[in-house]
Amino acid sequence: MTPKAELHCHIEGAASPALVEKQAAKYGVDVSGIIRDGRYQWHDFTSFLKAYDVAADLFRTEEDYSRLADTYLSSLAREGAIYAEFFTSPDHARRAGLSPEAYTAGLADGMERAKAKTGIESRMIVTGVRHFGVEAIEAAARFAARSGHPLIAGFGVAGDERVGEVEDFQRAFEIAREAALGITIHAGEFGGPDSVRAALDHIKPARIGHGVRAIEDPDLVKRIADEGIVLECCPGSNVALGLYPDLASHPFGKLRAAGCKVTLSSDDPPFFHTTLGREYGHALDHWGLDQKALLGVTRTALEAAFVDRKTKAGLLDRLPKK
Ligand code: ADE
Ligand code: ZN
Repeated sequence: MTPKAELHCHIEGAASPALVEKQAAKYGVDVSGIIRDGRYQWHDFTSFLKAYDVAADLFRTEEDYSRLADTYLSSLAREGAIYAEFFTSPDHARRAGLSPEAYTAGLADGMERAKAKTGIESRMIVTGVRHFGVEAIEAAARFAARSGHPLIAGFGVAGDERVGEVEDFQRAFEIAREAALGITIHAGEFGGPDSVRAALDHIKPARIGHGVRAIEDPDLVKRIADEGIVLECCPGSNVALGLYPDLASHPFGKLRAAGCKVTLSSDDPPFFHTTLGREYGHALDHWGLDQKALLGVTRTALEAAFVDRKTKAGLLDRLPKK
């Protein structure tokens, strides 16, 4: 099995419908509006984000989050993943009644449990949610910066890219950068090339979440390649959310051929009927990557990981030499 690494998964979005139904029974909540016949129900980005929020609200204690992280990471390890970075959202935790500190401690407990069982290494990237507003994003950055938790390695912004101006998030990212956190931002998913360019100009991230719509502007593609910006590509998510009609139309292969550093991730796997293993499979089936090229994708992801240098060297050492 090809060793894999994931850089882009929202932890609340990794909860399976079955686990969410279990949580709903625990808290006496009706989830028939978002889950039917064991599948999440949504029809566009806005209704996806709403379903995501309802599911997230059912994780309310440290133990709930520990189980969520353990379940996600253990299943990832079964697919051959040796490393994962996932997005956390202190705002979703707060809305569910838990402090950012307790939320992080719960997730960290799950990370340690999964590592003990499977060997998978993982780190958290704290995110602010764009449609929750600038104040909330800055509060998330302040939490990430002061937390000092050894498993928090980065800061990012997720949520509805159609809301707000990227310039407004500069202060939040400065707070994170000063705390030596890795920087990533969602752009070029529901926004076009201008959104990616604004993110590069104003935020100066090492990585872009998605970024795939850069393909609409060849100069921007060249800039991404020249500057070595890493794209956290999630093709299955992009097709599920209707950015592209099918995988054959997805620009992953073209971005890679243009010299961009591309990686593969699952984003919100059960919402989009995908897994990291399936994303690697898509690269094999649709963009002509062979096993060696897939290993190269994993290497790119590990080199771009926000993990400390020593752990990174150890992970790279676990890849077959050839
Ligand atoms: N939050 C969870 N999934 C997301 C996505 N695909 N884009 C932006 N924000 C998200
Ligand atoms: Zn995402």
